[in-house]
Amino acid sequence: MAFDIDRFVDLSKAVETSDLDWDYIKRVGITADEARILRYMADVESHTIIYLRDILSGHTASDPEITQFMACWVYEETHHGRALDRFLSACGYPPEQNRYSKVLADMGWQEHIEAFLTVNVPKLTPHFAATHMSWGAVDEMMAASAYTQLAYYTSNEELSKLLLRMAKDERRHQSFYYQQAEKRLQHPLAQAICATALRVFWNPVGMGVGEDTTLGFIAALLYDDERGREDLARMDRLMAKLPGLGWFGRVSLEVGKAIELFRAKEPERAQQIYAHKQSTMSSRAGRADNPDFALTPN
Ligand SMILES: [Fe+2]
Ligand SMILES: [Fe+2]
Repeated sequence: MAFDIDRFVDLSKAVETSDLDWDYIKRVGITADEARILRYMADVESHTIIYLRDILSGHTASDPEITQFMACWVYEETHHGRALDRFLSACGYPPEQNRYSKVLADMGWQEHIEAFLTVNVPKLTPHFAATHMSWGAVDEMMAASAYTQLAYYTSNEELSKLLLRMAKDERRHQSFYYQQAEKRLQHPLAQAICATALRVFWNPVGMGVGEDTTLGFIAALLYDDERGREDLARMDRLMAKLPGLGWFGRVSLEVGKAIELFRAKEPERAQQIYAHKQSTMSSRAGRADNPDFALTPN
């Protein structure tokens, strides 16, 4: 079904948090591991505007469908960041002062190179837009997947509810980017640029945000088991259906590498994470068959 931009803009809204049971959230709380992962996610969400700044410098800025989408997209992502900050604060993990500026100042060299290329390559060819759209599709897919996975594993029912709402938003974003990518990848030059960018530069979202082991830690927590690996493979298969991306397997590869690195660096923590997951299995009774927790469709 074609993506309906008018409907998307009309329905765009901040993720609902006022109806969550905040007393329950304070009482039940979250684990330190969950707090770490949510902090990372909140940071990535809050910095969406920085990606918008880089992206809007090229051909995409002259396409009204894209600009309308992105205006609402950045609004929704900003609210995801605020919702996570509110949740973390209620559980006793408020963001430090000036968190936004601090994260921005700590961005890695890779982020800066990517930003430079994102700003300048589109000036050379309009076919770069296909790369931007494919990149967006895989990032949104991974955001939806990560939220669904954390919603599946947490014992805090209200956190689960909030994360599933955000995952739904991410899937709407994914559907826009994916459809745009499909359309723009018809040209061989678009395919060539996109394949190079994804092979050479693509990494799981927020690679430059947070401490260096954070991504491996998150990967171990959310994907180091059968359900997780299955979801990574499904995301790869979906991306590989795009024109010229039949070779795509970057998600399983990069997340797998992050897990390996984390296991080598912090073997005891990796073991603890696995043991904790096993010991809290009972809190997930019924979730495996609940369609809300379904994995990425093929
Ligand atoms: Fe988001
Ligand atoms: Fe999103």
